[in-house]
Amino acid sequence: MCGIVGYIGKNNCLPLLIEGLKRLEYRGYDSSGISCLHQGSISTFKKTGKIVNMEATVPKSLSATIGIGHTRWATHGGVTDENSHPHLSQNNKFAIVHNGIIENYKTLKTHLENDGYTFRSSTDSEVIAHLLEKNYTGDFEKSFHKTLSLLEGTYGIVALSLDNPDYLMIGRKGSPLVLGIGNDEMFVASDVSAFLGHTKQVVYLEDNEISKLSINNFKTTDFTLEEKKKEIATIDWDISELNKNNFEHYLLKEIYEQPESIRRAFAGRFMESIGTAKLGGLNMTPQELINIDRVGVIACGTSYHAGLVGSYVLEELARVPTAVHIASEIRYKNPIVDKNSVYFAVSQSGETIDTFLAMKEFQRKGSRVLGICNVVGSTIPRESNGGVYVHSGPEISVASTKAFTSQLTVFYLFSLLMGRMKDVSQQKGIELIQALKMIPEQIEEILKSTEKIQSIAKEYSKLDNFLFLGRGISYPVALEGALKLKEISYRHAEGIPAGEIKHGPIALIDKNTPVIFIVPKDHLQEKMISNIEEVKARGGRLLAICTPNNQRVKELVHDYIEIPECDPLLSPLLSIIPLQLLAYYVAKELGCDIDQPRNLAKSVTVE
Ligand code: F6R
Repeated sequence: MCGIVGYIGKNNCLPLLIEGLKRLEYRGYDSSGISCLHQGSISTFKKTGKIVNMEATVPKSLSATIGIGHTRWATHGGVTDENSHPHLSQNNKFAIVHNGIIENYKTLKTHLENDGYTFRSSTDSEVIAHLLEKNYTGDFEKSFHKTLSLLEGTYGIVALSLDNPDYLMIGRKGSPLVLGIGNDEMFVASDVSAFLGHTKQVVYLEDNEISKLSINNFKTTDFTLEEKKKEIATIDWDISELNKNNFEHYLLKEIYEQPESIRRAFAGRFMESIGTAKLGGLNMTPQELINIDRVGVIACGTSYHAGLVGSYVLEELARVPTAVHIASEIRYKNPIVDKNSVYFAVSQSGETIDTFLAMKEFQRKGSRVLGICNVVGSTIPRESNGGVYVHSGPEISVASTKAFTSQLTVFYLFSLLMGRMKDVSQQKGIELIQALKMIPEQIEEILKSTEKIQSIAKEYSKLDNFLFLGRGISYPVALEGALKLKEISYRHAEGIPAGEIKHGPIALIDKNTPVIFIVPKDHLQEKMISNIEEVKARGGRLLAICTPNNQRVKELVHDYIEIPECDPLLSPLLSIIPLQLLAYYVAKELGCDIDQPRNLAKSVTVE
């Protein structure tokens, strides 16, 4: 969603702000803008569309050492130049960039209008700039504090003041902000990738914190002005991970990274000789783990699908009932919380507002919530009661791929750990570990069929209304395959439990309906074959994901893509790969904006 970057230092901020905004492009946006202090005034450039549109309006000769920038993903007010950030106060004394939503902006706007302030945009954010000016009595810090105390809602705000060129003011409540500490230069951004090429030293702001950022130092207080001691952390990944390398799109790169990202997710977490796993971050004693009698998962989108796979694995290995909840639903449902339950908040970004707020609701009811997240230092892991990082590395493409398979890997590890405390024997545990360790190579094997998948995708891109069918543990894979396809190719797709097809969806089938069957080698294979027969009799265009020896399936369908045989519980790690590639190549065939699909944002930080 919206992205923020700010700079104060010895260098020209304009190329740094533009570079930072480009690094944030992956979050999804529809307009961008920058403001800087230049020759006694605030110069502002903003434009709808890609950052290059805005960049083209910035004079090459312009130079400034303090500035702020923003990529906007419209919520309040249409996609127009005026609604883009930064927003300026009435007399152009203050400029602000804002992520989040100011819920009481209408009331504030009415008061400001009554006081003679004129609004140039239809956003909620503009009130902040006017309030800064209205509350200013010569002390920017004070006016910033006063302004924030009037705001209801969520925000990450960076403000620039014409009369105070030595510092930026920054405030956070519900929308992430991180400071970058350099030499004679400081950064602030909604995500470290904006400045990672310049410094790896960072300070994460917490909710209800305000920072004053000067060229060589920063001071952080809470809203009562009490100073907070902040730790400087070091980012342990590199800017090169943010590049596409030789891939045409980040999505393809990230699909190809999965053998490595899965290895990273399980690295150092097996205790192979006794067939179990160790997950230090859970902050739970063995007794507490044994006492878990229910597990709940809270998540959205792809992370929700990972949770669904996790529920099959946990119930199978650990025999612990596991319920998976869509975060935006459960948080308004007055959830019933059991004393001996543990909840997992699963999120690639660690910032998804629905997942975060659902987590808070569970915690309020006294529950322990553990995070399964990718972005280190993000809000969910910091506010959870413990958890596990999946260590996929930065996922830039909006559609999630490698984070999904890493989340699954963590569910396998946790299920193994729990299972070994309950029903699973040492031998079975060892076998599972060995099978998991083979997965990266098996994925490499699947990646060798990319050309075949590409030519299948060429044919299927001519069709619309895809059905993805799976049973048991392959049902969430069907959901995820369908989600990938619709997100990046804009083709309509539905994931359906294959047994349900007769109860309605079979009415959709005609000769132009592509139906994709996920048929790993497991105890439901025969049932899937019956479903294939049913659909074939009605004339669908059939594609199967199946194992090499499954001659019967191969003979029934028009096209097939092979995945290696593996332990049936692990099959989602393999069967999702061809579906990710299929979505990619269909989207490519259709000329879609693969890494930044229309209307989508990488981290959904507003409800
Ligand atoms: C799918 C996708 C979204 C996210 C969802 C949750 O490709 O990217 O469905 O999975 O918005 O995001 P996180 O995992 O960051 O909480």
